Formats: sequence, structure tokens, C-alpha cells
Amino acid sequence: MPHLAVIGAGNVAWHLAPALETAGHPVTEVYSRSLNTADLLARRLYQAAPTQHLDFRQSPAQVFLLCLADDAYPAVLPQLRLPPGAILVHTSGPLPTQLLAPYCPQFGVLYPVQTFSKARAVNLAQVPFCIDASDAPTEQLLVALASGLSQQVYALDSTERQRLHLAAVFANNFTNYLLHAADQLLAAGQLPPTLLQALVAETVAKAQALGPAAAQTGPARRGDTEVLAKQEAWLQAHYPSLAGVYRTLSAEILKFYHQKPI
Ligand SMILES: NC(=O)c1ccc[n+]([C@@H]2O[C@H](COP(=O)([O-])OP(=O)(O)OC[C@H]3O[C@@H](n4cnc5c(N)ncnc54)[C@H](OP(=O)(O)O)[C@@H]3O)[C@@H](O)[C@H]2O)c1
Repeated sequence: MPHLAVIGAGNVAWHLAPALETAGHPVTEVYSRSLNTADLLARRLYQAAPTQHLDFRQSPAQVFLLCLADDAYPAVLPQLRLPPGAILVHTSGPLPTQLLAPYCPQFGVLYPVQTFSKARAVNLAQVPFCIDASDAPTEQLLVALASGLSQQVYALDSTERQRLHLAAVFANNFTNYLLHAADQLLAAGQLPPTLLQALVAETVAKAQALGPAAAQTGPARRGDTEVLAKQEAWLQAHYPSLAGVYRTLSAEILKFYHQKPI
């Protein structure tokens, strides 16, 4: 079983490092630019040493798992020093696999299709993992790593993974933003957030059961332009930043179901 070093100690590292260790891959080092942050993650592991340095030439690890913010890669990669035989792996949806080619002969991607925050446990057994690799032996190793976490392992190239990540932005990030907007509207009206909980749970369950196109309801789906105009005007007066979102989404729903502009 190859040993791992984890580079980055944010949300993804927080969940993947202990899970990989439990699956039989000891983590030997945790890098963060803050030693304190590296130490917090290292304490979740058996024997990992926290480090602030990117010189891993003496590391016993073989796999170097990058869990960095996407925009940190240009600054961090040129500073990395790896031992012979190292395999460099990133965990990003949008970044191409070839980004790693100048820094290590063997490289790949292990992208988990889930939302991770330190504060929330995740059942990795239910998470699809997308892998990509520079060569067949590296791909086999990544399949073995991912299979230790989940039965759902997919080989996707960079273009496919970027498309998947874009879809995930719509499914998760935008949905979550809209849930936050809904919470704000309730709170401003002194209404409890629990009023929407059953609706939110059923929205996801129904979309998965019927397909989202068949599951849609509401004023734009019904083509009720009078309600749409009133709600948009009210938002414009009270929450102008939400009025644009409301208009754009309602117009798209109207176009999709009725082929007519708002
Ligand atoms: N979170 C998710 O739901 C999720 C899901 C799938 C894939 N991913 C991918 O996983 C990767 C990590 O995401 P994350 O959510 O774990 O991010 P994160 O919680 O923001 O952690 C990012 C890590 O990168 C470090 N970092 C940022 N800028 C740096 C720099 N200039 N130099 C050195 N270190 C730097 C941060 O250090 P500090 O703590 O010091 O800022 C932190 O350790 C990304 O590629 C993301 O696309 C994320």
C-alpha cells in the first residue's frame, strides 16, 4: 500500500486524508502554509507530521495528494520537491490533468463528486470518484486508492471532468445560494426556516425520482406572468440584488416551458 503525503489541509484534505488512511494508506506528512492548520489535520491521523515546507525529497510517501485551492496551484507547484518515483495527484474538478506534467513524470487526478466542509461528516462510500492518469500503472494505483473509499469509480478525461464540475456548480453551488436567499427572505419576514424544510427535501427527492424537467412547478412553470411581474417588482423595491436572479431564472423557465419571454 503506498504511503501518502497530503498537500493542503482544507475541507477536502480534512475528509480524504483520514479515510485514505483507514483504507490502508498511511499519511506521512500534511502540508499547509500554516503549521497550525497542518497540525489540526495531522491530529486526525495516526503518525502524520505537519509541515510548512514543500521539499519532500526525503519523504517516505509515494503519492502526493494535492488538496489546494485551485488558484494556489501556479504558486505552489514550482516550489514542490518530490522524491524519485513520486506520483503527483490533484483533487480538482476544473483543473486539467496535464497541469501536473511539468512537475512529475507520473501524475493524475482523484476528484470526489461531493461538497465537503470540515464541519460536516460525509459518507465517502456514497461518493463517486473520478480519476485520470498519465499512464496505465498510475491509473491502476488511483483506481485502487479510490476503490478503497467507494465502489463508484469513473475514469474521466479533463474535458469530461470539467463538464461534470460545471454541472456540479449548478447542482450544488447555485442551489445552495438560492436556499440561502430563501432563508434570508423568511428571516426578514420573521418566519422560521423550518417552514421550507419539507419543501426543500421533496424538491431534491422529486427531481431525482421524476427528473427535474418533469418535476418543475410554480408561477413560471404555469406561465403566470402576473404573479411573476408582481414578485419581481416587490424584490426590486426590497431586495434589488435578488430581483435580477429572480428575473433571469423565471425567464429561462418560461422560455423552456412556454417559449415566451417574461
Ligand atoms: N470543497 C469541496 O466541496 C470540493 C469538492 C471536490 C473537489 N474540491 C477540490 O478540492 C480542492 C481543495 O478544495 P477545498 O474545498 O479543500 O479548499 P479549501 O478548504 O479552501 O482549502 C484549500 C487549501 O489550499 C491552501 N492554499 C490556498 N492558497 C494557497 C497558497 N497560495 N499557497 C499554499 N496553500 C494555499 C489553503 O491554505 P489556508 O488554509 O492557509 O488558506 C488550504 O489548505 C480544490 O481543487 C477543489 O476544487 C473541493
